[in-house]
Amino acid sequence: MREATESDYTNILELSVDVFSKTCRFLYSENEIGIWIKAQTFQRFVDYGNQGDYFVLEDGQSKVIAAACISTATRYNFSSSVDHEIYTLFVSSDYILKGIGHYLYNEIEKRLVLKKAKGIGVLSSLYAHPFYKKLGFTQNGTTRSLITNVKCPIMEKVL
Ligand SMILES: CC(C)(COP(=O)(O)OP(=O)(O)OC[C@H]1O[C@@H](n2cnc3c(N)ncnc32)[C@H](O)[C@@H]1OP(=O)(O)O)[C@@H](O)C(=O)NCCC(=O)NCCS
Repeated sequence: MREATESDYTNILELSVDVFSKTCRFLYSENEIGIWIKAQTFQRFVDYGNQGDYFVLEDGQSKVIAAACISTATRYNFSSSVDHEIYTLFVSSDYILKGIGHYLYNEIEKRLVLKKAKGIGVLSSLYAHPFYKKLGFTQNGTTRSLITNVKCPIMEKVL
C-alpha cells in the first residue's frame, strides 16, 4: 500500500466508476447511479486527498487495483467513539471478492491503531454492507448520502 498522488486520481476515478456501476446497478435506480457518477470528478478526488489520507494498492506491475481515503473530518452523525471516516474504499471490478478490500482495510486499520484512533465510521453502499459487517463493523442507523441523497447504512467500528 502506498499514498496516492494527484497523478493517480484519473486512474482511480475510472476504477471507482466502473466498480460502483457494476456492483450497485441492481441495488440503486439508474437515476441514483447517474447522480453518483456525475459527482465523481477529478476535483472531488483532489478534495478528498486534501482532507484525508488517500491510499492505493498496486498489482505486481504498478497498476492500481484498489484505493481508499480516510479522514478525521467526519461528515455524518457517527457515535462519539468515531474519530475517523472512510470517505471511499473500492477495489477494481477485475479483483473484487479476492481478499483485496479486506487487506486494504486491515492496512489502514493498523495505521489507525498506531495513531491511537478511537473508531472508524463509514456511510456504506448497500453492496458493501456485508463486507463491513465481516470486518467487525456494526450498523448505527441510516442516513442520506451527501452525494446522492439516498439512504445508506451508517457503519461503525470501535478500535
Ligand atoms: C466492497 C468492496 C470494497 C469489498 O472488497 P473485496 O475485495 O471485493 O472484498 P474481499 O474479497 O476482501 O471480502 C472480504 C470478506 O467480505 C465478504 N464480502 C465482500 N463483499 C461482499 C458482498 N458484496 N456481499 C457479501 N459478502 C461480501 C467476502 O466474501 C469476504 O468474506 P470472507 O472473509 O468470509 O471470505 C469491493 O467489492 C468494492 O469495491 N465494491 C464496490 C464499491 C463499494 O461499494 N465500496 C464501498 C463504499 S462504502
